[in-house]
Amino acid sequence: MMMVYFGSVINMDGYLERSQYFTSDDWLNLWREGSTPWDLEGSHSHSAKLWQFWQEVSQQKPDGLSVVMPGAGRAHDAEIFLSAGCQVTALDLSAEAAHDATSKYEVFYHQGLFDYRVGDMFALDLKESADLIFDRAVLCAFHRDLREQYRDFCCQCLKVGGWFLSLPFSREESTSPQDDHEKLQPPYFLSASEIFTLMSEHFHLIMMEAIPSQADNSLPFQSSESMMIWQKISP
Ligand SMILES: C[S@@+](CC[C@H](N)C(=O)[O-])C[C@H]1O[C@@H](n2cnc3c(N)ncnc32)[C@H](O)[C@@H]1O
Repeated sequence: MMMVYFGSVINMDGYLERSQYFTSDDWLNLWREGSTPWDLEGSHSHSAKLWQFWQEVSQQKPDGLSVVMPGAGRAHDAEIFLSAGCQVTALDLSAEAAHDATSKYEVFYHQGLFDYRVGDMFALDLKESADLIFDRAVLCAFHRDLREQYRDFCCQCLKVGGWFLSLPFSREESTSPQDDHEKLQPPYFLSASEIFTLMSEHFHLIMMEAIPSQADNSLPFQSSESMMIWQKISP
């Protein structure tokens, strides 16, 4: 007997079979079922801090910057970038998420400052057009076989010198879910060193800081989150 929790197939012994792909249809089914345990219903508690770090290290004016949010879901964090004068393009498979986000940012949408593209991000060609990518819980949404494709997609989206801001889940691979909370975790955890190896080919790590477990999110896996800023150093 097998059960599926948030993308991980669990066999009779309770062990995750991480060789299974979580397909686009699986994500869409979660959206259709209203099963979106990652959704914080508002900005992440640390996105503003990450944004502040970025402003300090980059010394760039945010006004007019082009921001891409792959796997954006309801794009709650877009608010931070939009209110700073950035132009935001959110990407996700879910038309429902796009509808919710576009309603929320209706004013920005009509001003041409907020755009939402529905579909498989890998089918899009956003060649070196973005100044900044914001990734929250997307690295861990892809099976390890797709991580390089995701990294390359982000790299291609960004101008050289562009920025990859991330709030990833990172920890050593777990082998079995301990309790119901564990089963709600993202499908494919990766360790900080795996993220480093993956990203360092085209990006330079500017900062990385663990998010303390007492952060005010109510998600069960908050203790494994961190903040990262990477800068694209090569095409
Ligand atoms: C764990 S959720 C994170 C959502 C959002 N970043 C947040 O923090 O609320 C991962 C998201 O990636 C989207 N996704 C997965 N594969 C995708 C693909 N190939 N193209 C676009 N979006 C994708 C899913 O639909 C889902 O909304």
